[in-house]
Amino acid sequence: MSTTFQLDTATSRANPTPAPMKRLTVPAIRRRKQDGVTTEPIVALTAYTARQAQLLDEHCDLLLVGDSLGQVIYGLPSSVPVTLDMMAAHGAAVVRGSYHAVVFVDLPFGTYEASPEQAFASAARLLKDTGCAGVKLEGGAVMAETVAFLAQRGIPVIGHVGLTPQAVNQLGGYGVRGRSDAEAAKIVSDAEALADAGAFAIVIEGVVEPIAIAVTKAVACPVIGIGGSAQCDGQILVTEDMLGMFERVPRFVKRYEEIAGVISGAAGRYAAEVRSRAFPGNEQTYQPK
Ligand code: KIV
Repeated sequence: MSTTFQLDTATSRANPTPAPMKRLTVPAIRRRKQDGVTTEPIVALTAYTARQAQLLDEHCDLLLVGDSLGQVIYGLPSSVPVTLDMMAAHGAAVVRGSYHAVVFVDLPFGTYEASPEQAFASAARLLKDTGCAGVKLEGGAVMAETVAFLAQRGIPVIGHVGLTPQAVNQLGGYGVRGRSDAEAAKIVSDAEALADAGAFAIVIEGVVEPIAIAVTKAVACPVIGIGGSAQCDGQILVTEDMLGMFERVPRFVKRYEEIAGVISGAAGRYAAEVRSRAFPGNEQTYQPK
């Protein structure tokens, strides 16, 4: 895959020089799982900004504009206060910043649960305003009718079961799900209901591994794990978590960088140079001709 980005800084740092490449499609990703077997696991990460999308795009099959942006970008206590306006703005930025990965945008809490019609109106707005390929929503069997309603009207839907962060007030926290037999069985039947309703894929979050494996085996559509199992059909992480932006992350996060220290270190050196008047130097200063 040739995906070299050439940034034309003379025009705008946000616009990479066009590098034509056919964007992945929902059916192409769906076809990765055939008769229960996925030979090429789906690589997914969250993205919230255009520049982040530019950097992640070539490595990912799917970019998710997750409502985790509430905490990660806006410093909110949970994803509950996230609005459709926020998702639309960040979704559009991520679509502008990518040309290879398929982009999905989360339906935020309160914009889809009341009825299939409410979900369709919210999802249609996200597709129109952002150019994303589809939406993700949380909830199991109770959302099956809505998933079918959207899928039958041309909107690909990713379901989300197990730990569903929008339900934090009901769950009482972000602990691992499925430790009891009853809860495990419910998560599997929730995933089956979503798949039967026409979900394109299912995210399974924060469950004990046997449940993630059982769900992956039980449904025909791809299952994307986050705190699930390496045996899922794909994996997703919150990008800032895997980059090491935050001190506190769930156990299922692997840090591939320690970016918080890099940023803080750079800011510290900048601050020292401003205070000592070492910055700006000659190289950063315009002189008369
Ligand atoms: O909001 C989000 O980022 C998500 C992923 C963690 C799956 O739902």
